[in-house]
Amino acid sequence: MARVWAWSRSVRGWTLAICVAALCALVTTEVQQQCPPRSEISPCSCQVKKNGLDILCEFTDQQHINDAMSVLKGKSLVIFYLKLRHNNLRKLTGFVFLGLDIHHLTIHNSSLSVVEEASLSSIGKMLTQLDVSQNSLTQVPSAAFKNLHHLLILNMNHNKINSLHAKAFQGLDTLEILTLYENKIANVDPEAFVGLEKKLKRLNLGGNGLTVVPQKSLVILDMLKKLEMQENRISEINEGDFEGLRNLDSLGLAHNKLRTVPSRVFSHLTLLNSLELDGNNIDTIDKDAFAGLEENLQYLRLGDNNIHTIPTEALKRLHRLRHLDLRANNISFIAEDAFAGFGDSITFLNLQKNDIRSLNGMIFENLNSLETLNLQNNKLMHIPEDVMEPILDTLRVVDIMDNPLLCDCELQWYKNWLRNPKDKDDEMMQKKRTVCTMQHEHREYSLQSLPLDKMKCKIKSYENSAYSAATRQAGVLETSLLLSICVLIGQLAIAS
Ligand SMILES: *[C@@H]1O[C@H](CO)[C@@H](O)[C@H](O)[C@H]1NC(C)=O
Ligand SMILES: *[C@@H]1O[C@H](CO)[C@@H](O)[C@H](O)[C@H]1NC(C)=O
Repeated sequence: MARVWAWSRSVRGWTLAICVAALCALVTTEVQQQCPPRSEISPCSCQVKKNGLDILCEFTDQQHINDAMSVLKGKSLVIFYLKLRHNNLRKLTGFVFLGLDIHHLTIHNSSLSVVEEASLSSIGKMLTQLDVSQNSLTQVPSAAFKNLHHLLILNMNHNKINSLHAKAFQGLDTLEILTLYENKIANVDPEAFVGLEKKLKRLNLGGNGLTVVPQKSLVILDMLKKLEMQENRISEINEGDFEGLRNLDSLGLAHNKLRTVPSRVFSHLTLLNSLELDGNNIDTIDKDAFAGLEENLQYLRLGDNNIHTIPTEALKRLHRLRHLDLRANNISFIAEDAFAGFGDSITFLNLQKNDIRSLNGMIFENLNSLETLNLQNNKLMHIPEDVMEPILDTLRVVDIMDNPLLCDCELQWYKNWLRNPKDKDDEMMQKKRTVCTMQHEHREYSLQSLPLDKMKCKIKSYENSAYSAATRQAGVLETSLLLSICVLIGQLAIAS
């Protein structure tokens, strides 16, 4: 017993000692972190930040930057941020940062086109983020990058890189995020990403000139979670294109030139949660297009394509789907069984900017979780109540603006739904003025103030909705009671 007590006392003693030491270390590093006099590093400026210095050099040239760097050298400063922006810095010369401890380096919009082999190696032990965006690089300066063994983020957006050569990123074995958005990449060597396979989580190849998915290069990236290839010129995807990407969570293929989504093309992506295919020319979706995505796909964007019908057969298997966006397609008709078998989990359905002329029957019957329905900008003249009835209880937002609606008694549901005290998005609903046309009067009425009497409508009472509102309120009461009990227990616990 005594031994245990002594042991615990010594642990306490040690903890104290470590704390004091840590505190001292903190104080001393903070003392050391002082900016050099302004005149010595001008035109650069310096600020002391929590983790080290923040140095900024803008609208200047190589000579001035080199001079400022020599002042900073040999002072054992921690430069947390070195930001060189809008400069004339064509070439990053060897040893320019020798003797500096730089953690985040930005060289942005500075006409950079040459990065000499020995320019970055001296800071390889500290550098975790490198941003060389908006410059004139035509290829990845692999030799200069190869010693950056602690790099986590590399941003090469907005350069002029036209191909990724073999082993372009070799050595960057800790890299987690690589972004190459808006370059001119048309070719990717099969070995381009060698060395990134253990850690890379995000890859952005958007805004380039890809015409195919660089399957052979991607296949090794089995830790990848997010792959962006939007805004390329990919005209075809095929089964096997995404092989190996077994941890992928999000895939962006928007704004390409796809026409079809073939059978089993995503079948390797069993963890995929979000798929963006909007802004293509898709008119055909194979019934097995989404095979493999059954267990995890929740977000599917198919807007701005040329789809003619709800792709029921393909969607049927997606029993986790929450968010389905089919805006701006060419859907003119919704089949009675369009949402049969998969609609249960959908909370968001966007059908705006289509060509839908009528809604009939029990098409929405299976959409038991629907909260947002967008039918804006279609050709609807009537929206019958029995079509809407199954979803009125769960809907929080419904948008039926910009349809050639005729004022008829059927539209009562809208007025009643608006009036119902639900947790709907009031602000959004109020901003929208939804109107119908009273044919014989040649004038428009807001749906909120339909003159039901004048129209000689049989006014409905909506017992069911009133009931569900009441039960919901009871639920709120119960919860608040529970909460107060919790608070009480908490107070008792503190008091004792
Ligand atoms: C890029 O830098 C130049 C100066 O070198 C500046 O005139 C220009 O406005 C900058 N462009 C952007 C987009 O910041
Ligand atoms: C939309 O579909 C109709 C037939 O349903 C067709 O006549 C029309 O050309 C299509 N529009 C486009 C832009 O493809």
